[in-house]
Amino acid sequence: MNYRHHFHAGNFADVCKHVVLGRLVEAMARKEKGFLYLDTHAGRGRYDLSVAAQGDSLARAPEWPDGIGRILARGDAPPAVQIYVDRVREFDRQSGHFGEGLRFYPGSPWLVKAALRPQDRMVLCELHPAEKAALAAEFHRVPRVSVLELDGYTAVRAQLPCPERRALVLLDPPFESPDEWRQLVDALAVGLERMPGATFAIWYPLTQRARVEAFLAEMERRPLPPTWCAEVAIAGEDAGLKMRGSGMVVVNPPWQLDQELGPVLAWLADVLGRAPGAEGQLTWRVRER
Ligand SMILES: C[S@@+](CC[C@H](N)C(=O)[O-])C[C@H]1O[C@@H](n2cnc3c(N)ncnc32)[C@H](O)[C@@H]1O
Repeated sequence: MNYRHHFHAGNFADVCKHVVLGRLVEAMARKEKGFLYLDTHAGRGRYDLSVAAQGDSLARAPEWPDGIGRILARGDAPPAVQIYVDRVREFDRQSGHFGEGLRFYPGSPWLVKAALRPQDRMVLCELHPAEKAALAAEFHRVPRVSVLELDGYTAVRAQLPCPERRALVLLDPPFESPDEWRQLVDALAVGLERMPGATFAIWYPLTQRARVEAFLAEMERRPLPPTWCAEVAIAGEDAGLKMRGSGMVVVNPPWQLDQELGPVLAWLADVLGRAPGAEGQLTWRVRER
């Protein structure tokens, strides 16, 4: 496990993932009844962008200026993006940064926590011991939040079904091993078997279109409930970027969220795009009946 999210925090893919995730949580909270948020690969929860800029132990350029940095520079964000920006700024201030720009970027756990209500519950899994320790320190004594040093795929089996009978599961692995795609397909199958009505959000990198299509086709070999993909490409396939975009497969999506997100993804592609071929779109894989 060499992956550290620190270098990538706030990059274009984090922005797209966190905007979609925010809307999923808010849609879940439209119903009064509480729900479980399960984050299978939670990260450390807080990222100091000034450390990322210095390169920590490795010298490399920070990625956030071309992600959240570009969004902050705009004054015309659609409401779904503005809510996300406001949460990031609020987190930065609460972390003690009052200067220009941005210093502290929240990971998925804090971004989601900002939208949860007292009746909701969070389970955060992180397998890397140092990242888990940092995450546990973040949420020490925060009510209704559990931090587990547990394999995220095992957690799907262990945590579902949940007593709340409503769940949103984020699967956001590092894609360090080629086997990750297969593990995601298997985890989704287990999750749906254990809790058919839960909402699953699975992040994926967009490298080759064919790789993503094979992943989705593998998923669709079993009967799937309604499912769409929210994707943002920052460049076309021939631009030579290693990761030219990212997406989120959402299984059992909240009703009508697709209509709101379509234009938001197009706006994100416009702002985050780096080469011809940038585009954002929401595609239904299995339609609601
Ligand atoms: C992409 S990062 C998570 C980012 C986070 N979800 C966010 O949006 O802020 C992936 C994390 O998964 C952790 N990880 C890797 N393999 C894991 C596994 N099998 N189970 C749980 N966590 C794992 C890594 O240490 C890393 O912190």
